[in-house]
Amino acid sequence: MKRILVLGAGGQIGTELVPHLQKHYGYDNVIAADLKPEIVARLSKGARAVTLNALDIESYAKLLKNEKIDTIYNLVALLSATGEKNPQLAWSLNMGALLNSLNLALDNNCSVFTPSSIGAFGENTPHYKTPQDTVMRPNTIYGVCKVSGELLSDYYHTRFGVDTRSVRFPGIISNGALPGGGTTDYAVEVFYEVAKHGRYTCEVPKDTYMDMLYMPDALNAATQVMEADPYKLVHRNSFNVTSMSFTPEQLFTAIKKRVPSFTWDYKVDPVKAQISASWPDCLDDSCAREEWGWNPQWGLDEMIDDMLEACARKVANGEY
Ligand code: SER
Repeated sequence: MKRILVLGAGGQIGTELVPHLQKHYGYDNVIAADLKPEIVARLSKGARAVTLNALDIESYAKLLKNEKIDTIYNLVALLSATGEKNPQLAWSLNMGALLNSLNLALDNNCSVFTPSSIGAFGENTPHYKTPQDTVMRPNTIYGVCKVSGELLSDYYHTRFGVDTRSVRFPGIISNGALPGGGTTDYAVEVFYEVAKHGRYTCEVPKDTYMDMLYMPDALNAATQVMEADPYKLVHRNSFNVTSMSFTPEQLFTAIKKRVPSFTWDYKVDPVKAQISASWPDCLDDSCAREEWGWNPQWGLDEMIDDMLEACARKVANGEY
């Protein structure tokens, strides 16, 4: 039975990954850690939750030992748009949490999952059906951290035998916790704004394609890659995964088919425009399919129906 630590558990992914892991591995075997006590107070309503600064290696080491942790999900990160506002902080936080996780994993014989991202790619990456192994020259600090993190994680695996695995997440659409500071956030925000105000102003240019995943598929990716037979893995850090790719205009038009009163406009943020233009239009995820059976279940239409219903419910309940 696994003993799992989720670092950065209060974020968009962690909020839903914790209950997903509890369902698979048992409530007591999952510890949710976050930096902020108020977030830990929220998490503690549904999980064993602790306050932890992942950069404080002594407290981090103590927690791993006390809880006999054997698997770390390291979700600590500043995302792409926020990272550009404070690149030094993004580097020290994103890389500091990863380095501590890898070193402590080596000492304590833990497996480590650290998500990479479509942000690891850059302008000179092939944008259509972006291959698993290709040019990776990102021009954001977030992307620089992600490429460095992939390399470092593979290095710890080949040099020290640490069981490191990862996926390159595209934009993740969900209705648990809101994302914060990402370029793909528009594809989540729009659903809340449709439910609340019936209109949305988008900061990403209308014709920019980006890959997306609905959260249930993202959660399965995170657990399936960690359960994969190591002898079948040719790659480790990190696998392309996707289930849909669309532009803002295509998403909004599809929403309008279901909500005819919905209106939208654009107030393009130049940073988000530049970042999104440098990312792939659509990924080739065949290596994930071949090496560990990646098989996403949610397409655009099912995702939209589910998000509209969930966000309408949240707004009706006064949760947003
Ligand atoms: N969702 C992330 C971002 O937009 C990409 O991994 O920054």
